[in-house]
Amino acid sequence: LIGAVSALSLTMFAGQAQAQCDDGEMVIKFSHVVAEKGHPKGDAATLLANRVNEEMNGTACMEVFPNSTLYDDDKVMEALLLGDVQLAAPSLAKFEAYTLKYRLFDLPFLFPTLDAVNKFTTSDDGQGLLTVMEDEGYTGLGFWSSGLKQFSAGKPLLEPQDAAGLKFRVQTSDVAVAMIEAMGASAQKLAFKEVYGALQTGVVDGQENSWCNIYTQKFFEVQDGITETNHQLLAYLLVTSTEWLESLDPAVRDQFVTIVQEVTETANANVADQEATCRQNILDANGTIRELSPEQRAAWVETMKPVWAKFEGDIGKELIDSAAASGS
Ligand code: LMR
Repeated sequence: LIGAVSALSLTMFAGQAQAQCDDGEMVIKFSHVVAEKGHPKGDAATLLANRVNEEMNGTACMEVFPNSTLYDDDKVMEALLLGDVQLAAPSLAKFEAYTLKYRLFDLPFLFPTLDAVNKFTTSDDGQGLLTVMEDEGYTGLGFWSSGLKQFSAGKPLLEPQDAAGLKFRVQTSDVAVAMIEAMGASAQKLAFKEVYGALQTGVVDGQENSWCNIYTQKFFEVQDGITETNHQLLAYLLVTSTEWLESLDPAVRDQFVTIVQEVTETANANVADQEATCRQNILDANGTIRELSPEQRAAWVETMKPVWAKFEGDIGKELIDSAAASGS
């Protein structure tokens, strides 16, 4: 029954979304996994769709499928190459099958603030990373920040050793696995849509995510509390198929890419405020947030530091230095 209901709601949703497109318009489908509203990616996707649908009316039409209603982040990469969707924005942690360079973004405590992230992603080194997957058939259109990540678990976490022996859900990223193992904990890779259920049933004890994911997915409701570690970046690559992008009429492509760049800038400028709102929403909903003392924070940084050396060969020391310098 559950399968039938979700198949039905997917059909209804797809039907509604497609109804906006007129005959002759090029349809641009954008599939993502997070909440449609009140989330940096959900809101950026809507802004992008609104602008394309207004400014490219008659030429192009964008439909957004949020909340994993169409694909999860694994499947969406295949769907891009098959032409079943034209845009996706998986987190940078999820591209290991295509490039190891993006492991950079997952190094723990690399970026102290979202401003540092913006400084790096708009630099020549950052922009150069948009095209590293072209041999695989993918082109990056922009980096979209989502926030710094926080840990939560079924018990209070203040020192890294509080996590020892616990099992944490991670994204499909070996950097995340190494980080969790450095804490003496074990990691389980799970798709985003499975996290709430895994926390609720005790398949995993904890997780790490941005304030807006913790709030909109209600993870805080099935955890003892959240520790404000800001230990790692969550950011996305707005990605498309190179073949699709190259197939566009040059004037259409220029207009589309310009809109994407403007939306990327606006979205990244809004993220810190959106994340602060989600953090406050968790408190207003009686969630528990624990802050670290400077000494406690130093212990987390120290525990995770060995992870950098482990992945330096995949990323390149110069790139790590360049990203680290954006925060100083
Ligand atoms: C996750 O899997 O936790 C995130 O990548 C989800 C997202 O897209 O923010």
